[in-house]
Amino acid sequence: MAKISIIGGGSWGIALAILLHNNGHQVTVWSALDSEVEMLQTNREHKMMPGVILPEDILCTGDDREAVEGKDLLVMAVASAYTRKTAARLSGLVAQGQKILNVAKGIEDGTLMTLSQIIEQEIPQADAAVMSGPSHAEEVGRGLPTTIVVGAKSKETAEYIQNLFMSEVFRVYVSPDILGMELGGALKNVVALAAGIADGLGYGDNTKAALITRGITEIARLGTAMGGRWETFYGLSGIGDLIVTCASMHSRNRRAGILIGQGKSYEEAMAQVQMVVEGVYSARAAMALAQKYGVQLPIIEQVNQILFAGKDPAGAVRELMLRDKKIEVSDAQW
Ligand SMILES: NC(=O)c1ccc[n+]([C@@H]2O[C@H](COP(=O)([O-])OP(=O)(O)OC[C@H]3O[C@@H](n4cnc5c(N)ncnc54)[C@H](O)[C@@H]3O)[C@@H](O)[C@H]2O)c1
Repeated sequence: MAKISIIGGGSWGIALAILLHNNGHQVTVWSALDSEVEMLQTNREHKMMPGVILPEDILCTGDDREAVEGKDLLVMAVASAYTRKTAARLSGLVAQGQKILNVAKGIEDGTLMTLSQIIEQEIPQADAAVMSGPSHAEEVGRGLPTTIVVGAKSKETAEYIQNLFMSEVFRVYVSPDILGMELGGALKNVVALAAGIADGLGYGDNTKAALITRGITEIARLGTAMGGRWETFYGLSGIGDLIVTCASMHSRNRRAGILIGQGKSYEEAMAQVQMVVEGVYSARAAMALAQKYGVQLPIIEQVNQILFAGKDPAGAVRELMLRDKKIEVSDAQW
């Protein structure tokens, strides 16, 4: 039995808390938000995931020391915009070599850093790892079979975390490619916005399949230029997560995209889905990275134009369809 704290009491944190509890671990859920701690203590469920009940012996707290000290693993499950703030707040309590598993997805606007890079900067003494893959909290919370990947610097840490999470409903693979996993997880949210926009415009399955296929090509093009492994983008944390995010109504990025395709601004769409839509921030970061690494991201560029330059979504699709003629596989030879 390990002692594990979930840092961030949202849908994903709660789903993982229950999974780890079912695996026999001693689990604590911590949140910076007093209202969230109180809701979890009183109702034993999160309003974002009604019907998924936290067992009584999971401690819910807002106390930093109680959450961090003596824990074998900290699972960082705060919305990505708060990763830095939360890491900085808890840093002084983290022991040398204490394991922190980031399960959020995003790229920081401005610094263009991945979330594990932020954690390493704010908590240099930690042993930072990541977990990513096609895994909606609503389904993990209900115990539906799910597969995922854990990335860590050492095989020992990756396998240690794999053992904590593995169960008959949660299969965990391991990988050394932390960067590829994080880029896949963050950038798929931008393509999910595009898939939602296509749905909002009333387009069909052909369009969706095109966006997924050409979308992962863009993600892999940027991701390999930055040092990620090509295979990672065609694995669970890449194409796997992209498929689930583009296809499922659980995806807030897709739901926001649908509203944007129907004519709403991204601010209006965010207000309506009542959640932070991380793809909006990652879209801007992706364009900055594309410029830095000199790669073309046509779909992601059009998403940026729609979000931030008021471009008409139908016009953006037309532009994508009519851009320069290409070979599908860039280095293919006759
Ligand atoms: N929900 C899912 O199905 C799912 C699955 C896999 C990965 N993820 C990723 O995990 C992360 C968390 O997802 P979620 O759905 O639980 O997100 P969420 O938007 O519900 O937020 C998670 C938590 O962040 C913390 N938080 C929010 N605002 C804060 C603030 N102002 N200050 C400090 N902390 C604050 C709160 O504890 C909140 O519950 C995201 O990056 C998401 O992409 C989510």
